[in-house]
Amino acid sequence: MKKDNIILIGFMGSGKTSVGIRLSYGMKRTLLDTDKWIEQRQKMSVSEIFAQKGEAAFRQMETDCIKELLVTVKGQIISVGGGLPMKQENRELLRQLGTVYYLQVTPEAVYERLKRDTTRPLLQVADPKARIRELLAERAPIYESCADCVIDVTGKEFDEIMGEIMSRQSDEHDK
Ligand code: S3P
Repeated sequence: MKKDNIILIGFMGSGKTSVGIRLSYGMKRTLLDTDKWIEQRQKMSVSEIFAQKGEAAFRQMETDCIKELLVTVKGQIISVGGGLPMKQENRELLRQLGTVYYLQVTPEAVYERLKRDTTRPLLQVADPKARIRELLAERAPIYESCADCVIDVTGKEFDEIMGEIMSRQSDEHDK
C-alpha cells in the first residue's frame, strides 16, 4: 500500500523545488526537500558535506533520509535530490513513499538555469555543459524506471505542470 505523498524526481535544475512550492500552495500540503532535510540535520550545506565528508557520505544520508520519511510522513510533497534515485534501494523506497513524478528536462534547459549556480558540487567543473549532458544521459533511463508518471517540462509554464500532476493525482485517488 503506497503512502499518499507526491514525490518529485528529476535532474538538477528540472524545477522540482519550484513546482513543489506551487503544488504545496495549490494543494495545501507541506513541502519537504531531501537536500534541505539533510542540511538541517547535518547543520551544513550540501556543498560543505561533499567537501568535508565526501559524496559517498552524502549518498548514505540520502538513503537514511528516505527511510526515515517512510515512517514519519504522509500526504506531503517531497522534492528529491537529483542523485537520490540512482540507488536501487532508494528507488524502491521512493515508490513505497508515494506517487513518483519525473520532471523531464533537456540538458540545454538545465545549463541555462544553472550556469551561474555554485551550490551544485557535481557541476563545478571546467565544462559543465558536457557534464550535464553526460550525467543526464546516464540518469534519464533510471529516473524513468522509477517514475509512475513522466512529465516533460520543456517549454511549459508552472501552472501547466501543476495541472498535470494534480489531475494525475486525482486519477490515483479514483483507482
Ligand atoms: C545532486 C543534486 C542536488 C544535490 C546534490 C547532488 C545530484 O539536488 O542533492 O548537489 O547528484 O544530482 P537538486 O537536484 O535538488 O539540485
